Amino acid sequence: MSVWAVLAAAGSGERLGADRPKAFVRLGERVLLAESLERLDASDWVDAIVVAAPPGWEEPVILLAEELGCGKVSACVAGGPSRGESVRLALGEVPDDAAVVLVHDAARPFVEDGVIARVLAALNEGWDGAVPVLPVADTVKRVDGERVVETLDRSELRVAQTPQAFVASVLRDAFSGDVSSATDCASLVEARGGRVKAVPGDERLVKVTDASDLERAAALL
Ligand code: CTP
Ligand code: MG
Repeated sequence: MSVWAVLAAAGSGERLGADRPKAFVRLGERVLLAESLERLDASDWVDAIVVAAPPGWEEPVILLAEELGCGKVSACVAGGPSRGESVRLALGEVPDDAAVVLVHDAARPFVEDGVIARVLAALNEGWDGAVPVLPVADTVKRVDGERVVETLDRSELRVAQTPQAFVASVLRDAFSGDVSSATDCASLVEARGGRVKAVPGDERLVKVTDASDLERAAALL
């Protein structure tokens, strides 16, 4: 069973507000992208990697992969205007005989083998896809403007992370329509009736969105 990883790193990082794309901001001694790229490359579960790079940053991504000795990087494509478009473009470089696609966000630097093993195990159990989730600690309200409309049942809610794993053919089908508004891949598979398993996520899989997240991530290095 060949597992291809798609690393979504093409975002501009608007909320971070740096002078370069988020993938290339500094996290400790290296750039943010280095962490997830090296970890995926080192994982025995991963056979090959396709990176979606910020448009115009394909060359720096390839140089970084070489510098880190990431021999599994098979292709690097320029990303699109949305995460969905970037993943779709990267999927175009995944060969037809790939069995499984693992999609991960470079914005989550600390991906580990444990969570990769959990999402892949779900596929072996017969699920179409798997997403790592964490419980919701806060009470969550649905609002309409300023007005609270509803308080949701927290026990039924989970926060979704990446890496998310999918049977390759299922993911390709899910990406055949409009993907521009999807914030994760699982939602596209769910929308088509695919069976997606929620598996335990990882507290260390923090997402770097703004400057304070970057500080918190640096403290975890
Ligand atoms: N991403 C991508 N292509 C895009 C937009 C996002 O590959 N056009 C990737 C990002 O690089 C990131 C992940 O999707 O790894 C999650 O996106 P997000 O955290 O929103 O990153 P950005 O879109 O870069 O940040 P912002 O929304 O603040 O601009
Ligand atoms: Mg974004």
